[in-house]
Amino acid sequence: WSSTARKVDGVLEVGGVALPDLVAEHGSPAYVLDEADFRDRARAFRDAFAAYDVFYAGKAFLCTTVARWVDEEGLFLDVCTGGELAVAERAGFDPARIGFHGNNKTVAELRRALELGVGRIILDSFVEIDRLAQLAAETGATARVMVRVTAGVEAHTHEYIATAHEDQKFGFSITSGDALEAVSRVLAADGLELLGLHSHIGSQIFDSSGFEVAARRVLALQARIAAELGVVPPEMDLGGGFGIAYTTQDDPADPAQLATEMSKIVEQECRALDIGVPRLSIEPGRAIVGPSTCTVYEVGTVKEVALDGGARRTYVSVDGGMSDNIRTALYDADYSCTLASRASAAPPTLARVVGRHCEAGDIVVKDEFLPADVAPGDLVAVPGTGAYCRSMASNYNHAPRPPVIAVRDGQTRVVVRRESVDDLLATDVGVVSG
Ligand code: LLP
Repeated sequence: WSSTARKVDGVLEVGGVALPDLVAEHGSPAYVLDEADFRDRARAFRDAFAAYDVFYAGKAFLCTTVARWVDEEGLFLDVCTGGELAVAERAGFDPARIGFHGNNKTVAELRRALELGVGRIILDSFVEIDRLAQLAAETGATARVMVRVTAGVEAHTHEYIATAHEDQKFGFSITSGDALEAVSRVLAADGLELLGLHSHIGSQIFDSSGFEVAARRVLALQARIAAELGVVPPEMDLGGGFGIAYTTQDDPADPAQLATEMSKIVEQECRALDIGVPRLSIEPGRAIVGPSTCTVYEVGTVKEVALDGGARRTYVSVDGGMSDNIRTALYDADYSCTLASRASAAPPTLARVVGRHCEAGDIVVKDEFLPADVAPGDLVAVPGTGAYCRSMASNYNHAPRPPVIAVRDGQTRVVVRRESVDDLLATDVGVVSG
C-alpha cells in the first residue's frame, strides 16, 4: 500500500480521499495514484543515491504529470520508445536528462533523439551502432552513447523479466567478446561519444548478489577497456530491477541499504582493478511507482465453486481484469486485495478475484481471504499496481482502459482520463456510421 492508505471504519482512504467517493465521481475501475507516495519514493532514491544519477524508468508507468514529478524531484528519465520520448517532450522534460533504451529503435526514433539532443542513447546491437553512426554523420550531431552489456548473471526472477543471462535478446555479451568489440567500434565511429557501459540484470529482484556479480563483471570489462583500448569510460549504469512487496511474503531492500551495498562493491572492485570509480547511475521504475498506486474495482458477481477435497472457493468478478493488470496471467504474479467500501464482521472466506474477460486465466488476485458477505456493489482495492499495469494495459475484448486518478490532500485529479467507446472506435476506419 502507498504510505497514505488507511482504513477508516472499513472504508479505504488514499491521499485523504475515500475510495467510494472517488468511484462515485470518476467511476470504476480506476488506478489511484498517491502523489505524495510517488514523490517520497522518488526522493528517497535520489537522496540515497545522491552521488549517482537516478533515472526513473518510464516503462513502469509514464504520463506527462508523472514526467513532471520526476523532473521536480530531481531525477532523470529513462524512455524506451519514441512514444515514451513523445510523452517526455510534451511534459517539457529536458532531453539532456533523458536516456533512450531499446533493442530495436527505429531510424525515425534515433533521428528524433538526435534532433532533441537526448542525453544518452543506450546501444544494443552492432546494427544499431552503424545505424546511429550513420545518422550522426548525416545530421552532424554527436550522439552520447552507452553500450549495453550482458553480465551473464542468472537473476532470480521470472524468466521473462530476467535480462542478464546469455540466451536472451538484450545487450552485448561480455563473455563472447562482443561487448569489447562494440566498445571499440563506438570509439572508432565519428559522431559517437562513449559515456560508458550499461547493465540491467532484470526486474523484481530481491537478492542483491545479482547486482554485485554484475557490477564486478562490468567493472572487469571497464578495466580491460582501459588496458586494451586506452580509454576509461567516465560513466556506468547498473540498471533497475529493485523488487517491491506485492504480498506480505516479500521483503524489499530500502534504497539507502541498496546504495550502501552497491557503492561499497564498486569502490572495492575499482580499487582492486586499479581504475577510477566511474560516475554511476541506476534506473529504478517499479520501486518508485509500484507501491504508489492501487486499483479500485467494483464487484459485479460472486460465485462459489467446489474444489477437490470438498473445500470451496468464492469467485469474485470485478469490472476490470487482465486488460488493466496482465501481470497475474503473464508472470503468475501474486497480488493481494481488500474490501474497500465498508466494514464487515463476516468471517473470512478464500476468494479469487477475477476479471470480466473471456478467458479463464483472467485472474487479478489468485488467493485472498475476503469477508464471506462480499457482494455485488462492493469495492475491492488491489495495492501495488503502479508499475507495469496501466503501462501494459490493453483493450482486450474492447475494454476501455481505466483512468489514472492522482490523489493528494483530500483532492482528486485525473491525470489520464478513462477511455471511451469513441476512443476505441476512433481507429476503426472500416465502416463509417450514419
Ligand atoms: N532499465 C532497463 C534497461 C530496463 O529494461 C528496465 C525494465 C528498468 C530499467 C526498470 O526496471 P524496474 O526497476 O522497473 O524493475 N513488465 C515486467 C517488468 C519488465 C521490466 C522491463 N525493463 C513486469 O511487470 O514485471
